[in-house]
Amino acid sequence: MKKMLFGAFALAMATACTSDNAVTETQDPQGGDFAVAERRSCPSEEIRDEMLANDPAARARAADIENSTARFIQDKTLGRVLADGTVEIPVVVNVLYRTSAENISDAQIQSQIDVLNADYSGTNADATKIPTEFKSVSAGNTGIKFRLVKTVRKATKTRSWRTNDAMKKSSQGGIDATNPSQYLNMWVVGDMGSILGYATFPESAGLWNDGVVMAKNYFGKTSAAPYNLGRTTTHEVGHYLNLRHIWGDGTCATDYVDDTPTQASNNYGTPSYPQMDVCGGVSRSIMFMNYMDYVDDAAMYMFSAGQKARMQAIVAASGVRAGLRNL
Ligand code: ARG
Ligand code: ZN
Ligand code: CA
Repeated sequence: MKKMLFGAFALAMATACTSDNAVTETQDPQGGDFAVAERRSCPSEEIRDEMLANDPAARARAADIENSTARFIQDKTLGRVLADGTVEIPVVVNVLYRTSAENISDAQIQSQIDVLNADYSGTNADATKIPTEFKSVSAGNTGIKFRLVKTVRKATKTRSWRTNDAMKKSSQGGIDATNPSQYLNMWVVGDMGSILGYATFPESAGLWNDGVVMAKNYFGKTSAAPYNLGRTTTHEVGHYLNLRHIWGDGTCATDYVDDTPTQASNNYGTPSYPQMDVCGGVSRSIMFMNYMDYVDDAAMYMFSAGQKARMQAIVAASGVRAGLRNL
């Protein structure tokens, strides 16, 4: 047994050429037996230096490897288009906290990213509740994903925030956006009164204030029912990707989406299905379970195919938010 262990150790030395200080007491139960090994040097680098000095092609290969390695590491912090065409949006979460409870945990932040990925891929568990009549116009997978690449935290004295974008300005106690043309910036603040969240639309792409803001009780999975399932952010990111409220912010107004039935107005709470709205003398069953209505988190669980098309237009290579693709 001891022999086997030593054999494995010797093999590691020969193949990995471990550095001098990697030979430690813990690897040497006898103590001191490997003192010789501690003085042994690793000639790999010297041998390699000689090869590179005499072989320009090997030199070029080594430089290529360094470049692609650096690019690979950098890419992990950027957006990208996956093989199936899915656009993965890199997200920066900016947390402003006055109390320790407002300094939300990494787990709460990740729970929000997970909710976004479920909702935007149509894999949310409650998608099974989509009424049969709306299944054929359901977005399913929108082809948009989210990846948390950075969290910025800052203490503040501000107790309640307003929709004046102060949270986005370091000069006003906020946090400046991280390159808003390449990253979706989210700000999480302690409180905004009755406002759960707000967003900029695509005409603000890349501006200093571009992104979405949520109050901490409504960011990620929380205990703040009925807004406890992270759907406020799903809704705000919908605006960020050019979705309008499903009722068109007026009486029987348009959201510029054909497959969302015209609604007389917005809905709250947990409406029972079906709900009939009369617009222009026509009675229609409305899609109140859409993320762009105002119902409770537990009562919203779908985007429509038409909404997907609008969002895709924004993140497409030709779209105004193409910068999120980093290609
Ligand atoms: N901007 C809306 C508000 O602040 C968000 C509504 C989100 N609805 C929801 N069920 N989470 O009122
Ligand atoms: Zn809204
Ligand atoms: Ca519509």
